[in-house]
Amino acid sequence: AEKGGFDHYMLKEIHEQPRALRQTLSGRFDIDAGTVDLDLDLEEAYLNSVEEIQIIACGTSNYAGRYAAELLESVTEVRTSVEIASEYEFDGGRDPWRTLVVAVTQSGETADTLSAVRKAKQAGARTLAVTNTLGSTVTREVDDSLFIRAGPEIGVAATKTFASQVATLSLFAVYLGRVRGSISSAEATTVLESIRALPGAVQQILDDENHIREVAEEHGDSNAFFFIGRRFGHSVSLEGALKLKEISYDHAEGFPAGELKHGPLALVTPETTVLA
Ligand code: F6R
Repeated sequence: AEKGGFDHYMLKEIHEQPRALRQTLSGRFDIDAGTVDLDLDLEEAYLNSVEEIQIIACGTSNYAGRYAAELLESVTEVRTSVEIASEYEFDGGRDPWRTLVVAVTQSGETADTLSAVRKAKQAGARTLAVTNTLGSTVTREVDDSLFIRAGPEIGVAATKTFASQVATLSLFAVYLGRVRGSISSAEATTVLESIRALPGAVQQILDDENHIREVAEEHGDSNAFFFIGRRFGHSVSLEGALKLKEISYDHAEGFPAGELKHGPLALVTPETTVLA
């Protein structure tokens, strides 16, 4: 592990996102055919019979999971919930045989997520890990693993792995949609074209680094940072707020855009930065 000319690992890893995303996507889909191949052990017959998906994760991985849940519901029509791993209980009303529990964890070692996986297994549900780390504890406990292939993340804050988690889970959503016949190959091609454009789109943002630095300096004295977004943007706003508070020790919160007026607006002053 080397910093490769960057001041610290986190900055290096932010800049590694396009490459990490290319690795995540490499060889996993055929745009023209509208197909995805993730080399999963979970059988297609089982995936066809799934009635519910529960995503369990903490922190950044939870926000990637929230993003994926939106996509999974729209592409596969399978009811999908996202739970904070430390709060997870397998609800007795659910059918364990038809519930797929997806643990999203960069490290594969987070105690809360491992404990949630064990509860799901004990209830009889099938489990899938979406992780960055080969040979991690989670991979030894679940029925199947899907690797995000982002490369090692040394920085404490998750950066490139959020992007690669979202990309991997998006491929999984398309794969499941095709297996279950809930999307056509043409619809899959459209989603896959957007996914293929991700590394270039992220690069474009990174190329604007000087401007980003200027904006950061302009807002450096704000007393609070509110991130707002709708649907997919909401998950991203939660992750943005987590990252900002974790790195700057400033107050930051994420809201669904429409909620700002239902209370939090009371805290907005001329010194508050709102990122939409
Ligand atoms: C935030 C961060 C944490 C982790 C969380 C889960 O930048 O790094 O919130 O996302 O502790 O870790 P993993 O994904 O390894 O289970």
